[in-house]
Amino acid sequence: MNFETGLAERAASTRAFLDAYLEGDGRRNVVLAAMRHALAGGKGLRGYLVTESALVFGVGSASSAGAAAAIEAMHAYSLVHDDLPCMDDDDMRRGQPTVHVKWDEATAVLAGDALQTLAFELLAEMHAAPEVKLALIAGLARAAGHRGMVLGQAQDLAAEVAEVSLTLDEIVELQGNKTGALIEWSCEAGALLASSDPGPLRRYARAIGLAFQIADDILDVEGDSEAAGKRLRKDEAAGKATFVSLLGLDGAKARAAELVKEAEAALAEYGDAAENLREAARFVISRRT
Ligand code: IPE
Ligand code: IPE
Ligand code: MG
Ligand code: MG
Ligand code: MG
Repeated sequence: MNFETGLAERAASTRAFLDAYLEGDGRRNVVLAAMRHALAGGKGLRGYLVTESALVFGVGSASSAGAAAAIEAMHAYSLVHDDLPCMDDDDMRRGQPTVHVKWDEATAVLAGDALQTLAFELLAEMHAAPEVKLALIAGLARAAGHRGMVLGQAQDLAAEVAEVSLTLDEIVELQGNKTGALIEWSCEAGALLASSDPGPLRRYARAIGLAFQIADDILDVEGDSEAAGKRLRKDEAAGKATFVSLLGLDGAKARAAELVKEAEAALAEYGDAAENLREAARFVISRRT
């Protein structure tokens, strides 16, 4: 099976898990409808990283399903809020109207809030040892919050209006927070579920997290909006410092390719068991969407 087919299958099973979990909750609840809309249609990469990192340690996909669903819910929340008029003001996401366009801003704020709490609910209800669930919950809270994704989003917005543009080190830090933190949690989750050392997966995750955001910046410049399912060519217009604005397109591509090599090297000790994670690293920079 090729990588993209495998990724699509895992994304579908995580979606099915979320659908089943939300099944039967108030059918006329507008916030729930908006949450379902926001959960639909992504690549499911973060959930895939959870499942595959768990498989490296022999933890099967049924045991990691709650954690995969949780990170996809958290990620969906981050996108709903990222697209709001007060943030990036986007009207298209995953080929569909954004939540505030299809409904309204209040519904988008609330659906995002509820997707975030859903992530913790899903982790709390997993069939795993209490100390494992606590480590997953605390780690996700840190990764998503004011030291992680939220901080990165704030740094990103601040950079748009700053007088001086960011240095390379500053942009690495910003993107490590904005995009890297949730990707890191996804990769470490497998080790936590197996009560194993998360060190090698953390190194892998740092490298692909950065490569992922470099690829997002490259796609913003040379991607196809139809394939990406979102508006592109927005970063330069917003005066945003990105890897592309700092390194140029070729420099950004070269850096991303180096990071993929670093990511692959970090998995050396896992041998063949980590082959899907190596493919995921390569996919991160070759993706068109
Ligand atoms: C997009 O993430 C937002 C960023 C963090 C750059 P993805 O490219 O993983 O989006 P979906 O989930 O596949 O839509
Ligand atoms: C979004 O980054 C990152 C998070 C939602 C945390 P971007 O604003 O660059 O993502 P896109 O380009 O809208 O998908
Ligand atoms: Mg943004
Ligand atoms: Mg955005
Ligand atoms: Mg972007």
